[in-house]
Amino acid sequence: MNIQRVVLNSRPGVNGVPVVENFRVEEATLPDKIAEGQVKVHTLYLSVDPYMRCRMNEDTGSEYLEPWKLSEVITGGGIGSVEESKDVHFAAGDFVTSFTWPWQTKAILDGKQLEKIDPQLVDGHLSHFLGAAGLTGLTALLGIREKGHVSPGASQTMVVSGAAGACGSLAGQIGFLEGCSKVVGICGTDEKCTILVSEMGFDAAINYKKENVAQRLQELCPAGVDVYFDNVGGDTSDAVISQMNPNSHIILCGQISQYNKDVPYPPPLPPAIEEIRKSRNITRERFLVMNYMDKWATSTMLLCQWIKEGKLKAKETVMEGLENIGAAFQSMMAGGNIGKQIVLVSQ
Ligand SMILES: NC(=O)c1ccc[n+]([C@@H]2O[C@H](COP(=O)([O-])OP(=O)(O)OC[C@H]3O[C@@H](n4cnc5c(N)ncnc54)[C@H](OP(=O)(O)O)[C@@H]3O)[C@@H](O)[C@H]2O)c1
Repeated sequence: MNIQRVVLNSRPGVNGVPVVENFRVEEATLPDKIAEGQVKVHTLYLSVDPYMRCRMNEDTGSEYLEPWKLSEVITGGGIGSVEESKDVHFAAGDFVTSFTWPWQTKAILDGKQLEKIDPQLVDGHLSHFLGAAGLTGLTALLGIREKGHVSPGASQTMVVSGAAGACGSLAGQIGFLEGCSKVVGICGTDEKCTILVSEMGFDAAINYKKENVAQRLQELCPAGVDVYFDNVGGDTSDAVISQMNPNSHIILCGQISQYNKDVPYPPPLPPAIEEIRKSRNITRERFLVMNYMDKWATSTMLLCQWIKEGKLKAKETVMEGLENIGAAFQSMMAGGNIGKQIVLVSQ
């Protein structure tokens, strides 16, 4: 059977910006028969994520991530339907997901790689399992619960960077659901700022590309910042940390502003900011959603419930076609997405 797949064509270099030409679309064939334990799947949705930028390097700099190999098919989060199964846990017509889904129109996978998903949990909106009801939602919820020290009634102010992206847009809303009294977002366009305030309930939003972040934070958070959900690092984070209160908490989720640079993860803070952090006893512990797998099942149910009840608005930016997945990745890294960037491979 003929299929299409996407392989890594070239590396951007540790200090390079990823481009569409780093990815190559190829024709390939799948065997007609599947073996015991295998499942033939038809790809519906694929996820592009910032961590993939590290996998484009020869050395990811992380014990958690393997580099992608040149000319090999790329893998990441995916969702599909089962066409044929020789694994007793799956049957034709089931919907399944995996973190190691190949960027192919169809694939033969080991059943052990797959997890069944129930479309009813997300009112049929299957792609939410790659976003608000998937790893993204878990990152926002567990990041806040494990590292945020949010307590209802404590009148805490939360600031979120990367606020209009997949994790950030959920983190701000979950901040309120968990008890914060004020949430301010920082993101890269006026349109994103408007959506955060008008659709997602943020109290205010700052466009870091146009506005003076430090000055705007002083105006918007006169009592200081208690919780900072940090998706971006760099200058934006330096401005936020400078205005954090004593004994406050940084949720160190990601540092996307540093991913096209040859720096260690997490990058150290500039000495003056590190001095502020230490003198005010501000925590900055690395958060990794993979470290909390024991909490995924119950947390997923809660996220699905919030989505169904309309308490959690799950925005997506969808690009169509496997051949456009490189463009979707490049666009997400450059800020082209609002909410979760998804690639629709097939209906
Ligand atoms: N710790 C974990 O377990 C875990 C799990 C998942 C994700 N993450 C991290 O969470 C963060 C968000 O991931 P996501 O999947 O939700 O992606 P996302 O926020 O949906 O997309 C990335 C966004 O980053 C922003 N951005 C890009 N370059 C930037 C820069 N130089 N400075 C400031 N903002 C920049 C862009 O928005 P603007 O228009 O606002 O620039 C872009 O839309 C990433 O750092 C990721 O690595 C961590």
